[in-house]
Amino acid sequence: RKPENHILVIFGASGDLTKRKLIPALADLHKQQLLPDRFAVLGLGRTQLSNDDFREKMKEGASEFSSKEGGSIDDFLNKLHYYSFNTKERAEYAGFREKLEDLDAEVGSGSNFIFYLATPPSMYSLVPQFLADQGLNKNEKGFRRLIVEKPFGDNLESAQKLNADLLEFFNEEQIYRIDHYLGKETVQNLLVTRFSNGIFEPLWNRNFIHHVEVTSSEDIGVGSRGSYYEESGAMRDMVQNHLLLLSSLVAMEPPTLVNAESIRNEIVKVLQSLRPIPKDEVDEYVIRGQYVSSKMRGKDVKGYREEDGVDPKSRRETFVAMKFFIDNWRWAGVPFYIRTGKMLPTRVTEIVIHFQPTPHHLFSDDQAIIRQQNQLVIRIQPDEGLLLKFGMKVPGAGFRVQDVNMDFHYSELADSYLPSAYERLLLDCMLGDPTLYSRGDAVEAAWKFIDPILKAWEEQPCIKVHGYPAGTWGPEVSDDLIEGNMTWRYPCKN
Ligand code: BG6
Repeated sequence: RKPENHILVIFGASGDLTKRKLIPALADLHKQQLLPDRFAVLGLGRTQLSNDDFREKMKEGASEFSSKEGGSIDDFLNKLHYYSFNTKERAEYAGFREKLEDLDAEVGSGSNFIFYLATPPSMYSLVPQFLADQGLNKNEKGFRRLIVEKPFGDNLESAQKLNADLLEFFNEEQIYRIDHYLGKETVQNLLVTRFSNGIFEPLWNRNFIHHVEVTSSEDIGVGSRGSYYEESGAMRDMVQNHLLLLSSLVAMEPPTLVNAESIRNEIVKVLQSLRPIPKDEVDEYVIRGQYVSSKMRGKDVKGYREEDGVDPKSRRETFVAMKFFIDNWRWAGVPFYIRTGKMLPTRVTEIVIHFQPTPHHLFSDDQAIIRQQNQLVIRIQPDEGLLLKFGMKVPGAGFRVQDVNMDFHYSELADSYLPSAYERLLLDCMLGDPTLYSRGDAVEAAWKFIDPILKAWEEQPCIKVHGYPAGTWGPEVSDDLIEGNMTWRYPCKN
């Protein structure tokens, strides 16, 4: 199904996100003929660009970053337009509205508009107001939708305020809050793995699952984003959104229907059941770290404090490992361990379900060989797929047990094209389906859980920021979070 005709208006169109993510995703949709017949992109920004300049710049982005091969994008590039004005100035919005109406008449896009806020967050509250001034917020003549990028607030209070500001001018159904992890094919596949396989779902609870592990690591540093990172840190950048979202999908109850309301209701219930971490016990549950200069794969790498835009005495975390519990019927007493960081040994996002061990070690040699319990590893990226680990008899005398793998890779499918997260999310918004976007109450519930941790870090300087050499799996103390004689899974080795 193709979306209705419309114009996609991008605020902040001269920025990186537009070039690296949005335009390549649109180009991929174009190659698959998924864009409507009467469609245009109107890029907005302060930088002065002609339509041709904009097209040229976007062509570079599309050639470098789009993932679907084949097909010319010339027709697509002709649909890109640019209008330069100062988006902070209320008075300049009348001119913008005229430009938009002219383009709408020219394209025949039925007065349907999507507004994409790819701007610095300080604009998120202003733009909706200014759009409303011009009558561009109401679904009257056509549809009006607003896509808001992360970060959605930087604490509970600012997220609540932002929600309130948006809701003053747009309805919840018109607001699309992006968490690009939900746009990933393999993240959606979590729901299919759980809810369409009779072998997994009956085991998916405290009786059979010992603990859950979620890792999202990167092998690069903060690069040119030092000043952004100084404000955010790994907790705001990755945990509050992506990692809590992945945990919610692992933990949620089956939705009654596959639709936005049912799925998002179940997600929010998990977030509301997170057991608060007491302020004075934060260091027992949460480890924060910061990469220090060292050698990685034989090369010298800078420490975080030496990066551009970073305070040489910064205490901002580039690594977080934490343990938490979900206080509900299904998960009572099951620890969830999550971990994320920059400059770790490899880029990987995976979820590991650790099943309970057998009640008794029947085979005496069982313990002699280092074996963990049965594990289901859901690889979100890269090498997307699913790995099930279980014990088998080593051939020969006696009963020796060894771990073996059943391993599925998406790349083995005949049609293994995995749409990018932005491709999927943009298409969904065009189709008016907010299922894969975050709802306001879920964002607030996640902040409610994270806020006390951030406050404790601010208020209690005695909580350590552990240095870790680039290329390691973070501070060694993060191993102590995991109870018993178990460890984190090290994704480089199967
Ligand atoms: C973004 C963060 O939301 O997610 C980045 O701001 C991070 O710091 C990125 O690198 C990771 O996304 P992905 O899709 O590469 O796992």
